[in-house]
Amino acid sequence: MAISNVNLDPNQVAATEIKGSSRKLKIGIIGTGWIADAHMQSYLNMPDVEVVAGADLVPGKAEAFFKKHGVEGARCYNSDEELLANEKDLDGVSICTYNCQHAPCAIHALEAGVNVMLEKPFTVTLDEAIAVMKAEKKSGKILTIGFQPRLDENMKQIKKIVESGELGKVYYIQTGGGRRRGIPTPFGTTFIEKETGGIGALGDIGCYSLDMVLNAVGYPKPLTVSGYKSAFFGTNPKTYTESGRPAEYAEKFGVDDFAAAFVRLEGDIILDFRIAWAMNINTPGDTIILGTEGGLRIPSTDCWNGSVGGEMTLYKNVAGLQTETKIPVIGASAEGGFTNLFDKKIRSFLDSIIDPSKGPTVPSSQIIYNQAIIDGIAKSHEAGKEIEIVIPEI
Ligand SMILES: NC(=O)c1ccc[n+]([C@@H]2O[C@H](COP(=O)([O-])OP(=O)(O)OC[C@H]3O[C@@H](n4cnc5c(N)ncnc54)[C@H](O)[C@@H]3O)[C@@H](O)[C@H]2O)c1
Repeated sequence: MAISNVNLDPNQVAATEIKGSSRKLKIGIIGTGWIADAHMQSYLNMPDVEVVAGADLVPGKAEAFFKKHGVEGARCYNSDEELLANEKDLDGVSICTYNCQHAPCAIHALEAGVNVMLEKPFTVTLDEAIAVMKAEKKSGKILTIGFQPRLDENMKQIKKIVESGELGKVYYIQTGGGRRRGIPTPFGTTFIEKETGGIGALGDIGCYSLDMVLNAVGYPKPLTVSGYKSAFFGTNPKTYTESGRPAEYAEKFGVDDFAAAFVRLEGDIILDFRIAWAMNINTPGDTIILGTEGGLRIPSTDCWNGSVGGEMTLYKNVAGLQTETKIPVIGASAEGGFTNLFDKKIRSFLDSIIDPSKGPTVPSSQIIYNQAIIDGIAKSHEAGKEIEIVIPEI
């Protein structure tokens, strides 16, 4: 079966006839920083892939990246646009840029007719996410967002429990988490600067907590949000005493390090959310899902490792008796020979390129709601009141 290229300049795109063919998939990596290492390692674990090109805005970074991974012959560029203009037969790209470059890079790749694995969070703003989805629709290509915890067995179990009806009608969800001290500055300041990160804890780890519960309950549409965000730790040099660069980091910090929100979801569900990169407590609480027939407690993690922080508890009333069922932590499963979540994430992207009828594992049609909540929290904070979430038809 041919992969269709909808609405595209035929000179621009050559990726066709993959299913049933023995040729290797040609992949490019845009942004060769920290997380690109995980993408590269997973691509190297796939027998049917060739990473043929990479791009980074920092001169020499893509070259050093391929050298580090022992990949010879990959072509290197200084931007996503340069890579896409020169590489005419790519089957897909991994977009591993900092948050503010997610939307432009995804749009450029989709416009070039290339399938996209886009790192989380989807984008910085809702408007950007809508623009990406318009490009996705026009291109007819696969766009999947890099939420590898989706592939974790414990995350799947949470969804199975909700879908089994054990909880009855879900009416209240509390989620979120965070680190006591964990502002990410291990490899520079791209997470904490407004111009590169765009959003802080809210987007970086908040998007995972939101995905865990929204996916479990079927991604209901968010209707209104009353949100708050702050940056007391990020802007305080004392937070970075051990870094050796406290004044510089505090000066550069331009995003949030804490956020909280009260969100109304379609289906009469209330979502109570909080997230932190830094706080003066060990955890802001477990994730809980309350339903008319049962309640589920999901112990919080040292946010975020993509799993649960211990065994879950299912609370039920059985024939008048209050019961608690412990649900053990499920270990990694082997799927297609892969146990690592990153390998599974990359494999599922490749499988959807080979057979587009499978669709993306983590589709934009769901994550737009995740992004709308993040965007709504920022906007509600600025407005100082609850706001309505409006998502236009795409
Ligand atoms: N899924 C996960 O587990 C996970 C883990 C960490 C980070 N991430 C996400 O991955 C993204 C990148 O994080 P990181 O830690 O690798 O950041 P990073 O700053 O280390 O790397 C990003 C790189 O992208 C490059 N870049 C930016 N715009 C570009 C463009 N237009 N063309 C080419 N290169 C460009 C930068 O120069 C930089 O080298 C973030 O959005 C982050 O949220 C995901």
